[in-house]
Amino acid sequence: MRALVYQGPGKSAWDSVPDPEIEDPGDAIVRVDTTTICDTDLHILGGDVPEVRPGTVLGHEAVGEVVEAGSDVRTVRPGDRVLVSCISACGRCRFCRTATYGQCLGGGGWILGHLINGTQAEYVRVPFADTSTYPLTAGTQDDAAVLLADLLPTAYEVGVLGGGVRPGDTVVVVGAGPIGLATILTAQLYSPGRIVAVDLAPARLEAAKQLGADVLAHAAQEPERLIDDLTDGLGADVAIEAVGRPESFGLCTRVVRPGGHVANIGVHGKPATLHLEDLWIKDVTITTGLVDTYSTPDLLHMVAAGRLQVSPLVTHAFAFDRIQDAYDVFSHPADTAALKVALHREPSHELLLPQP
Ligand SMILES: NC(=O)c1ccc[n+]([C@@H]2O[C@H](COP(=O)([O-])OP(=O)(O)OC[C@H]3O[C@@H](n4cnc5c(N)ncnc54)[C@H](O)[C@@H]3O)[C@@H](O)[C@H]2O)c1
Ligand SMILES: [Zn+2]
Ligand SMILES: [Zn+2]
Repeated sequence: MRALVYQGPGKSAWDSVPDPEIEDPGDAIVRVDTTTICDTDLHILGGDVPEVRPGTVLGHEAVGEVVEAGSDVRTVRPGDRVLVSCISACGRCRFCRTATYGQCLGGGGWILGHLINGTQAEYVRVPFADTSTYPLTAGTQDDAAVLLADLLPTAYEVGVLGGGVRPGDTVVVVGAGPIGLATILTAQLYSPGRIVAVDLAPARLEAAKQLGADVLAHAAQEPERLIDDLTDGLGADVAIEAVGRPESFGLCTRVVRPGGHVANIGVHGKPATLHLEDLWIKDVTITTGLVDTYSTPDLLHMVAAGRLQVSPLVTHAFAFDRIQDAYDVFSHPADTAALKVALHREPSHELLLPQP
């Protein structure tokens, strides 16, 4: 088969590799119909995730069809169309027993495109298939479903639910990349009073507005003052960090009201200062998290029911063999306005969406 193989920092190739095979009775082999690229894949290529060994197939998000199931697999069978989650779950360890699948101790967690071969390929071996795939209804489009492998559950679980968004809240989302935008989208499920989007890029703020942000704030133009004015000096009920930088985390801790929540989604590469000399008296709750994907079935129901419109997050589509072009477009959002790029087995899909 063909697959995108990591070849060390800065290098990857759409290459011929052996087809995956069942290695454990709980495995399934899935034919990938649609996959996508995540910011984390760019971090791997940047050399920031050294445990990814050269030779590993990248990717941790997919929609496809089960073509083979191991003898222990009970809930999916060949012919089933499934979502392959970015998080695999052994289903048995102490963390899986509390739906904290991201922390799985039994060989799951984030393994696809990380510790084992991933989804940016024609076929993928999915361990623990019963607890790591989700059957799809016929009406759920691939491009919508693939966003539920990682992006939507991350934003919803770590941001919206982690931050405890409630009706009427002022919610500040710092960072309007795909994760921040998905947070803006899913925060609306809880009828907040207003959503303030903060970013440095005007195009990203415009996307935030399209997806439901009520107020736009440029990160370099004193968003603290704007939020102060909007809330009569109180501050935000919930501040959600969706960048992964010390300054954006700092901003969240400055704009949150006493008793409010800061939910950190961003992956931080360096230390961020926690100003406890200011925060100790404010009764704030700060949460962090790796996505667990426990919300994936709920999100799938909402997408199938038309309650959650996720398709505007997919801005570009490519055939598998143009995956290097897709990486190029995805990694230059200032020039391409890319949010998420879909990669399709069937080249005809390429025509359905705008080209860069
Ligand atoms: N916790 C998890 O499980 C998890 C999962 C996936 C991704 N993430 C992380 O979430 C973060 C966001 O992901 P993404 O894909 O949207 O990234 P992205 O890089 O596409 O978007 C980040 C956005 O932040 C903006 N930005 C940069 N500096 C800023 C600043 N100082 N103030 C305000 N905005 C600023 C950028 O303009 C951009 O629009 C990343 O750190 C990513 O690694 C976390
Ligand atoms: Zn990801
Ligand atoms: Zn487990």
